[in-house]
Amino acid sequence: MKVREVLSQGRGALITAKIDDASLEAEVLLRYALGLKRVQLYLQLDRELSFKESENFWQLIRLRLNNEPTAYITGHREFYGLDFDVDGNVLIPRPESELLVETALGLALEYPMHTIADVGTGSGALAISLAVTLPRVKIYATDISSSALGVAQSNCQKHGVLNRIRLLQGDLLEPLPEPVNLIVANLPYVREEALSQVNTRYFEPHLALDGGPDGLEAIRRLGTQVGAKLRLGGGLLLEIGLDQGEAVMVFFRHLFPSAEIKLIPDGCGIDRVMSLLLPPAILLTESGVSNAVMLS
Ligand SMILES: C[S@@+](CC[C@H](N)C(=O)[O-])C[C@H]1O[C@@H](n2cnc3c(N)ncnc32)[C@H](O)[C@@H]1O
Repeated sequence: MKVREVLSQGRGALITAKIDDASLEAEVLLRYALGLKRVQLYLQLDRELSFKESENFWQLIRLRLNNEPTAYITGHREFYGLDFDVDGNVLIPRPESELLVETALGLALEYPMHTIADVGTGSGALAISLAVTLPRVKIYATDISSSALGVAQSNCQKHGVLNRIRLLQGDLLEPLPEPVNLIVANLPYVREEALSQVNTRYFEPHLALDGGPDGLEAIRRLGTQVGAKLRLGGGLLLEIGLDQGEAVMVFFRHLFPSAEIKLIPDGCGIDRVMSLLLPPAILLTESGVSNAVMLS
């Protein structure tokens, strides 16, 4: 059978199983089975596949039909134009999280930026995208999961930024050795009861998705640690879930009454990121907690 026929049959099998982006997914899996780049695949559409090549491809399609994400099958996912290694220890980086990187880069143009912390780094996608684009900035990347940090470390090596990203294991901001200018965080924010609707839930780490009863458990705990780990005039960028914007704004306004807080929508108009900028002065919250600890 020819490459084009096998590709079409694979696509048909994924469409029948109602898998999104069936055409792209079938192509990625066929390229992976044959070890070809995109352009090479399209130059070989009329080549006959060997029995073994065909078997390899159908084995991958079977894994996909069993709902295993393509990124875990191939071990790769592109994020912000970079190729990241991924496995079952880390969340597959999502395209919507690129908004965090873009917003952080925008702030880096406006404000002095010496240190950034990526909290819950997973594969390291956010920290590494920032490190590659901001070569003078020192970056800390934390995660509670040592196996996730192992994946982040190999991605740092792959992109040549291991000497500029310090990987730290621990709870949220606790392992940071100093306050930073900017905190970016894509923490678990899926509501417990909605976890069953995440179609990759059997494969992606629970720890990366589960945000507790209202999805905001990790975000609220982070909020209570921010005051001690963010410099005066510093910023916090948080990825949030659908319909969480208002609750997250109310929570952070209460903690940091003088901060400039806003929601940033993605290209579809959905609020994806909460941005908080601390004023360049020490302020106390109602609970008496300082929201900034030292001069930048
Ligand atoms: C939604 S994933 C985000 C991964 C990556 N930043 C990305 O955007 O693709 C959340 C990450 O937070 C980590 N995490 C969960 N609870 C944590 C905690 N208490 N402290 C630090 N990291 C935590 C998980 O292990 C996971 O890697």
